Amino acid sequence: MLGNFMYCNPTKLYFGEDSLASLNEELPKYGQNVQLVYGGGSIKKNGIYDKVMEILKAHGKNVLEDAGVMPNPTVQKLYEGCKIAREGKADLILAVGGGSVCDYAKAVSVSAYCTEDPWEKYYLQMKDVDNEIIPVGCVLTMVGTGSEMNGGAVITNHEQKLKIGHVFDERVYPKFSILNPVYTYTLPQYQMVAGIYDIMNHITEQYFSGEDDNTSDYLMEGLLRSLIHSSRIAVKNSTDYEARSNIMWIATWALNTLVAKGKSTDWMVHMLGQAVAAHTDATHGMTLAAVSMAYYRFVCPFGLEKFKRFAMNVWDVDSEGKSDEQIAAEGLKKMEVYMNELGLTMNLKELGVTEEMLPGIVDSTLIMDGGYKAPGKDEIMEILKNSL
Ligand code: NZQ
Ligand code: ZN
Repeated sequence: MLGNFMYCNPTKLYFGEDSLASLNEELPKYGQNVQLVYGGGSIKKNGIYDKVMEILKAHGKNVLEDAGVMPNPTVQKLYEGCKIAREGKADLILAVGGGSVCDYAKAVSVSAYCTEDPWEKYYLQMKDVDNEIIPVGCVLTMVGTGSEMNGGAVITNHEQKLKIGHVFDERVYPKFSILNPVYTYTLPQYQMVAGIYDIMNHITEQYFSGEDDNTSDYLMEGLLRSLIHSSRIAVKNSTDYEARSNIMWIATWALNTLVAKGKSTDWMVHMLGQAVAAHTDATHGMTLAAVSMAYYRFVCPFGLEKFKRFAMNVWDVDSEGKSDEQIAAEGLKKMEVYMNELGLTMNLKELGVTEEMLPGIVDSTLIMDGGYKAPGKDEIMEILKNSL
């Protein structure tokens, strides 16, 4: 049964090959000072930076450059961005990049005028925003996180060995996001497939929970089928517009809160992946891929019905003459074969994890209890060992 919920998503999306032109409609709504946030330089190499700058200049904007946002943005970089925003009196933060850049932009937007330490307030104490918020707009260049249409902002504190996401409310969602699938063509294959698995995992984190008949689960099965189909095309031909645009659109719907409405969600794979990243700084999607099979095989017996449904409705497993356990296991096997086919990193060793690091990673793992079975510390250790 659908639980009670509120649904509101205020982000305006512009999608397609010509979508950057919509910046001309959006920019006049904001003041003069635009904090232009981007990563390590990919947008300079592929020409997106020049195109964005041209439009900003045409509107006479004063550009505050905020470059060098790293994958898994750090708390130190967040403090830097807050200073740029305050000193330059930013009226709009324009993020041009992937999830890291978009997440960081949202974190700066709520932190620039925060009187407390933002790490302490938003990430350790999970408090709400009660100060001025600078509006954010996004031009997305990497697909996976869904950050373009949600309130998530994940920040890493390497000293404390913690990577934590705060899901802010609708006031913090990007005011607008520009999604041009062609901008994702220059992504290295490693990042493209990591993003594809991030999408898949966002869906499965929300799917593997609950035993009710919930429309969201049917939506998710459709999204997964489309993702599997399009990703198989994209890995062979990375400039197939149809496949890349479908993947971009699925990513947005996988994590713009719609499919989570009225149901509980799990998120333990993300908690494990984030703990791994806090110790290794590895690519987000790969941290999820490396722990997924061990986690799902651990939790499958506790949610057998749903894993059976997953096998049949997503992976077309033939149920004839098989036990529920066999059907569920076959579904997970098909998922594993698909993950290998994409070229994902399927073990923690390849991400730099050693056996000695495991106790620390266990300590960094936050435990969520919305899934079929919240793992205890010993079980987390077992899952990590099985992922090595
Ligand atoms: O920094 P640059 O030079 O731009 O290079 C980036 C980066 O090295 C590169 N890249 C991006 N677009 C490119 C490109 N290279 C060539 N051509 C392009 N068009 O790709 C690399 C990875 O970028 P990044 O933004 O780090 O990737 P992603 O989009 O996967 O974001 C990861 C971050 O998002 C968080 C993750 O934890 C991680 O910190 N997440 C945010 C979520 C949310 N807001 O709801 C949910 C997710 O589960 C996730 O946790
Ligand atoms: Zn993710």
